[in-house]
Amino acid sequence: MTNIVDQITGHRRMRRNRKADWTRRLVQENRLTVDDLIWPVFVVPSTNVVEPIPSMPGVNRMSVDRLVEAAKEAADLGVPALATFPNVEMSLRDETGSNSLAADNLINQATRALKKHVPQIGVITDVALDPFTSHGHDGILRGSEIVNDETVAQVARAAVVQADAGSDIIAPSEMMDGRIGAIRQALDEAGHQNVGIMSYATKFASAFYGPYREAIGTGGLLKGDKKTYYIDPANGTEAIRDAALDVEEGADMLMVKPGLPYLDICFRMKEAFGLPVFAYQVSGEYAQIRAAAINGWIDGDRVMMETLLAFKRAGCDGILTYFAVEAARALAKKG
Ligand code: PBG
Repeated sequence: MTNIVDQITGHRRMRRNRKADWTRRLVQENRLTVDDLIWPVFVVPSTNVVEPIPSMPGVNRMSVDRLVEAAKEAADLGVPALATFPNVEMSLRDETGSNSLAADNLINQATRALKKHVPQIGVITDVALDPFTSHGHDGILRGSEIVNDETVAQVARAAVVQADAGSDIIAPSEMMDGRIGAIRQALDEAGHQNVGIMSYATKFASAFYGPYREAIGTGGLLKGDKKTYYIDPANGTEAIRDAALDVEEGADMLMVKPGLPYLDICFRMKEAFGLPVFAYQVSGEYAQIRAAAINGWIDGDRVMMETLLAFKRAGCDGILTYFAVEAARALAKKG
């Protein structure tokens, strides 16, 4: 019998490898494991606080004591690391974000407690000034300008203070020029040769950060936008060039942020440098999935896992995601 499809395909049939669960497992190219997950968390002052964030259903701001409990659970599930973000009291925020330099500020309190009580989990800290400034910008505002060099000097000092508190990896997200080299130099001069740098190498001026700004209380404060320091979402080649500078300056790992709308950047970055590349599935991406799931419009669990796997396919070594604990639980069940 002459089969028209066999004639067309020359007897090649893609569906043969898809015919059963066992063949699909056999040919699966990428896998998500718990080792790929970094959990971003929001910290608030005081004790015994677990406070839901309205625009991020399922995500809470936690006081340090409750964060320690949550971190234990994450560590037990095998999550390798946390990324901490403080919601600093308004009275401590000022024009230059000076509280970022305080040895016992909220983020450093969290690091100390985590390293003491849950030493098996990695702690990644951001040095951007936005949680500490009265204007919500990531750097120091002089007139109408976010001044580069003065900000770099301050974030480098903040990095040393964070490393002193026990931070394992400094993750600068403020996109100033020269910061990676300055932070590396400052850390090494202070004897923190083992503290790594995960550069928010390509951070785009994105609308997907909205819920995060609510979570750390900067949404209402922010004057203007961040377009003079974050990358234009239209620009891929510029993003790779920016990342190249971070690689030259000594970044140990690179990050792409936001995540899913920027998978092309993840792919290009991995190809270009071969360094570990991480994607940050940001607050707005999380909120979209959650909101649709709550409305019954999508299967939230499946979409969560599909998005995380997509990052792996694009070449990412791991993902910062608010779904980290949930995904870890799902992976453990599948186990
Ligand atoms: C700022 C910072 C941002 C996020 C983390 N640190 C972006 C911003 O507010 O401009 C976003 C994280 C998220 O949306 O999940 N340094």
